Order: sequence, then structure tokens, then C-alpha cells
Amino acid sequence: MIKVITYGTYDCLHYGHIRLLERAKALGDYLIVGVTSDDYDKTRGKINNKQSLMERISAIEATGLADEIIVEEYEGQKIDDVKRLGVDIFTVGSDWVGKFDYLNEYCKVVYLDRTQGVSSTDIRAKSRKCKIGVFGTGNVVTKFVNECGFVNGVEIVEDDFDAVYVATTPDTHYSLVKQYLNAGKHVLCESPIAESVEEYEELLQLAQDRKLILMDGIKTAYATAYQRLLLLVQSGKIGEVVSVDSVCTSMSDFQDGSSFAGKWNSCCAWGPTAMLPIFQILGTNYKSKQIVSSFIDGEKKFDGFTKIDFVYDKAVASIKVAKTAKSEGELIITGTKGYIYVPAPWWKTDYFEVRYENVAENKRYFYQLDGEGIRYEIVAFSKSIETGKNIGNINSEVSDAIVRVIEDITRHKVIEI
Ligand code: CTP
Repeated sequence: MIKVITYGTYDCLHYGHIRLLERAKALGDYLIVGVTSDDYDKTRGKINNKQSLMERISAIEATGLADEIIVEEYEGQKIDDVKRLGVDIFTVGSDWVGKFDYLNEYCKVVYLDRTQGVSSTDIRAKSRKCKIGVFGTGNVVTKFVNECGFVNGVEIVEDDFDAVYVATTPDTHYSLVKQYLNAGKHVLCESPIAESVEEYEELLQLAQDRKLILMDGIKTAYATAYQRLLLLVQSGKIGEVVSVDSVCTSMSDFQDGSSFAGKWNSCCAWGPTAMLPIFQILGTNYKSKQIVSSFIDGEKKFDGFTKIDFVYDKAVASIKVAKTAKSEGELIITGTKGYIYVPAPWWKTDYFEVRYENVAENKRYFYQLDGEGIRYEIVAFSKSIETGKNIGNINSEVSDAIVRVIEDITRHKVIEI
């Protein structure tokens, strides 16, 4: 029996795929189809497949052409598969000519002519694009616009948009977001969405009533390493969490000696990111908190440095954020069995460690970080708009809790130093 194997993503299964599978099957007696996992595709830069792995597998199954379907999960797996499954022929389309010649050592390699005029990319591109307007200036906006270029299905436009990205200073968020929701636009707003809980809740209600997506923008929530870290904590890898401590500082805004006018203060620029792991791990039901801030302007609007301590039933947490002070930007999650250490700058990390008393048990985790998480944030935003269901990584309770803290600082419910 001649065993043939072929691989692909097979997103939005099309005529080109089917023709390839038919010819692959005709090369032998038994056809194995390797379908790429979502994670593996991510590492290859294919970040916005329309269909999930299971949907793509079901579509292959429905063709009746595959005798066996496997999932391709890592680089180099093809060699393992060919050896493990006793494959005689490896085949793919001619777009890959030469790329898999290294498999000749293990089996015969055949490149089949690619069907002209059809591809998943074209099919995805033909479906209507989500038009996004951008409001704000500076580095964060430049990055957002650049990252949109990696996500097919979205385009940046000047007017006539379906959705907006708001990255103006936080004191303008509430009125801008309200204006756009009222105009029927979906909104992704850099956190904090508002400066008071009342305002935030009003916006949330407005979005719900109008069936619009309102997403809180914190790129770290979309970094793969951060997401995996949360899952490890939830699955008990470090036991019960007793403390979450995060530090975020940056002084770059002031390096040119310019004033603070028009700039984000420390609690708004860094507070949402620093509080994110606390509220996502320990919840938003803390018993008490103490905020200590140092303001650098006469009006006390600009906190150059803020430290917050939260007390929960069985845990504590702290954040330290600053724009006029510098510290080590690390995240440490302390548990009853071990701890997680994320080195600076933890908010854009591709790496963390789980550490134990017995160092032999320590484990290091590495994940690819594309576009600091912004790319996946845009994917989540556009998919939420498409499906009408908010699939963002930050729920409204967390956003609410973030705004609550910002409100206290804005109203000077702090100890001043
Ligand atoms: N293929 C083909 N003819 C096409 C499209 C794909 O023969 N018109 C083949 C590819 O060469 C590969 C397999 O089908 O062997 C799976 O390809 P995949 O990358 O999933 O499909 P594409 O349509 O090329 O996807 P994309 O546009 O996302 O790259």
C-alpha cells in the first residue's frame, strides 16, 4: 500500500484545495491530510484564518478524500510524521517547490501544480472589510495602523467607517466614545474607557442597547505569553495565589525635557495594564485598597508616580506605575506552591518562568509575540464586530474595576506624597 501525505491550512475550503487532494490521493492508496493547528499558523504569521481548526478539519472530512487526518502543530513535524506513519510520498502544491526537498531523505517528494486563480487569501479578502477610523496621535496610533496591515478583513479609512479606534487622552474618551456609539459605530478605546464608573456604565449600556461592540484596549491582554500564564495560574500550577505584584514605568515621554501637558498621566498610561493581571487572577472583589500618589502639577491631574495596594479575602496585590520615576517592570505572581516571574518589560513579554522551592522543577515558557499583542487585539475586535459577540479578552467587570480605581485617583481619593 502506498501512503501519501499532504499538509495545509485549508481555510474556507475551495476548488484549488479539492483538486490538490484528488491528485494527492491518486498518487497512492491511502491519503493522510495534515491540517495546521491555529497556534502553529500563528507562529507562521497566518493569524486570521476565518475558520477554526475543527471547522477546517470537518470540511476536509466532508470531501471524503482523506483516509486519515492529523494536526500539524510544530515546525519540523513533517519529518516525524513521515517516519512515524511510514509515508511513501509527500506532496504539496507548486507554490512550495523546493521548500520540502529535505524530505527526500525519508520519502518521495512530489510538487503538484497549483490551481490558478483561487486561494484562501483571495476568498478572505473578498468578504467585506471592516472599515476602521482612527482617533488620536502618537506612537500607539502609529503602531495600531501598522498592525492593521497584518490583519486581512480590516482597513483604515478616513470617513464612512463601521468602527473606530480611540486613542486620544483619557479625559476625552467618554464624550468621544459616546458620540461614536450614538452614531452607530463599534468602538475599541485605549483603556481607561472613562474616568468615572458612572460614565463607563452608561457607555456599556449604550453599546448593549445599540448592539454595538465596545472593547477596552489593553494590548497585553492579547499577548500569547500573558494568556498562557493566566491559564497556568487558573489550572493550579503555582497553588493558591496569595499575591500579584506588577510594576510598569516609562520615562520616554519626558526625555526631551518637554512638559506634561497633553500627555497621559501615570495612572491612565500604565494603571490599566498593571491592574489587568490582578483583576484577571484575583477577581475584582477586593476588600480594600490604598492609593498613594505623587502629583507633579499644581492642578494635581498628573501623577508622576502611583502605588496601589489591594487587599482581598485571602490574597494581596500591588501595582507601581510611574512616568517620572523608574523601576524594574516585572510581574510576580506568588502562589502557595511556587511563583511565576515575568521579566521586564512584562507587558510585552514572550517569556516567563514558573519557579519552585526545588529549582529542578522550574520551567521556562516561550511564546511568539507578534505586534506586542495589538495584532490579535485587532483580530478580536473585527471578529467581535463580524459575529456580534464581544470575544475580547477583557470583560466588563475588569474594565469597570479599572475605571473605579482611575476615578479615585482623578478625584484625589489618595494619600499624597
Ligand atoms: N493549493 C492548490 N491550489 C490553490 C490553492 C492551494 O493546489 N489554488 C494547495 C497548496 O499548494 C497546498 C494546499 O492546497 O498544498 C493547502 O494550501 P493552503 O495554504 O491551505 O491554501 P491557500 O489557498 O494557498 O491559502 P492561503 O491563501 O491562506 O495561503
